[in-house]
Amino acid sequence: MFSRKVSRRSALKAGVVTTGIVGGAGLVAPLLTRGSAEAATAAVAGPATTPQFAVPLTTPPVLQPTSSSSTTDYYTVTMQKAVKEIIPGLRTEVHTYNGEFPGPTIKARSGRRVVVNQTNALDTVASVHLHGAEVPMDSDGSPMNTVAPGASKTYTYPNNQPGAPLWFHDHAHHVESEHVYRGMSGMYLLSDENERSLPLPSGSYDVPLVLRDVNIDTTGELVYTMGDFLNRTTILVNGRPWPYFQVAARKYRFRVLNSTNLRFFVLALSDGGSFTQIGSDGGLLATPNTTTQLKLSPGERADIVIDFSRYDVGTQLVLLNNTGPGPADLVGKVMRFDVVRDAFDFSWVPNRLRTLPTPAIATVNRTFVLRMDEDGRADPMAYINDLTYDPNRIDTKVAWGSTEVWTITNANVRAPHNFHVHLVQFRILERNGKAPDASEAGLKDTVALLAGETVRIQLTFNSYRGTYLYHCHLFDHGAMGMMGTMQIA
Ligand code: C2O
Ligand code: CU
Repeated sequence: MFSRKVSRRSALKAGVVTTGIVGGAGLVAPLLTRGSAEAATAAVAGPATTPQFAVPLTTPPVLQPTSSSSTTDYYTVTMQKAVKEIIPGLRTEVHTYNGEFPGPTIKARSGRRVVVNQTNALDTVASVHLHGAEVPMDSDGSPMNTVAPGASKTYTYPNNQPGAPLWFHDHAHHVESEHVYRGMSGMYLLSDENERSLPLPSGSYDVPLVLRDVNIDTTGELVYTMGDFLNRTTILVNGRPWPYFQVAARKYRFRVLNSTNLRFFVLALSDGGSFTQIGSDGGLLATPNTTTQLKLSPGERADIVIDFSRYDVGTQLVLLNNTGPGPADLVGKVMRFDVVRDAFDFSWVPNRLRTLPTPAIATVNRTFVLRMDEDGRADPMAYINDLTYDPNRIDTKVAWGSTEVWTITNANVRAPHNFHVHLVQFRILERNGKAPDASEAGLKDTVALLAGETVRIQLTFNSYRGTYLYHCHLFDHGAMGMMGTMQIA
């Protein structure tokens, strides 16, 4: 069994697999920062500084299939370390898929299979999870179904689901938090015929924005300390610190992913201008939602359209993050849009984007209470229904084909959580007793729960049978025990 002793520094560097026990995450968590106090001294060399809006945005390359048949695209990926220049002038070792930071984007189509052969060239076990996807159990990348160093595993993704902005990331038990932090995540954009028939911005006007925070010291070292959200004050977009992006005065579509371990984002444009949310975790919304802010907890995605045609050429707009923790002059800024030219624009956002599946009648109700120790004790743990994760225990038995309503409560006073369910795209019925707002009215696989909040979600289990996970997607909370298993039979 794994030791319950903790290395708050890097488990990977210590060469041992340890379980993390560090409190706190997200908005505020003052009493939970035993680890963070240590973290404050962890970056011996001190944090590197870098000017904001000094480097251009780049986009991760789209992975090309190594071969294709009439039904399937085959990809080959190597998980490997690489050295990247993240902060200008510094060299930083990262963990990657195929040497890319973040990982390359896989583009898939509904109804067409993707097979990825993953070779683990790292010196630690790995497991690749395709977040938001309906996949057979053996390809789900569960925590114990790992790929040993030097070994390979073939993951099969049937893509029998509507288009959605999915993402893949490491999920190996006890090391997922550090692996993901060191770079092991990438986007997987699944499109379908309906989506492709819409006149939305496309081609170079359809841009992924993979958001995260990081702590890099003055030597270029990527500092990993569990629970260290207070020191991860450099914001990266597609692996670039506070980049600028030169845009034409027209509409752009952005697929936004919060790939952080612990940080929540509340995004807004610096002029308070509105934009249009057209999709969420599980693909397009039924109808577009015009808004001035976008909330994303770790693991969540949003599909948005920003129309820059209302700005004069020469305008600069900062994408702000209106929530902490951390200094607003650092974590409060994400990137800058520089409007540099005029352009024709034949794209538009239709009033109807998609027909959502009609929810079936639910026959089972369940309750899940998320809680972590936040009383300042030495070894805080995190629980679902008072139990920490045990991969050998089945927590929830679901009858295949059934529809259920799950009521999920964050019982903490300070710590935010969220709730991610593997295999299923669910519907949010209620947030704190009220109908969810428009941003949460589509298909979701991850739902945010600030302290004290309760959500009710409806799920239908009609794809694969097997054992899958649900968990808090603040990775450190998962590692502290806030994960459970469901068996669909
Ligand atoms: Cu994105 Cu079980 O995770
Ligand atoms: Cu949590």
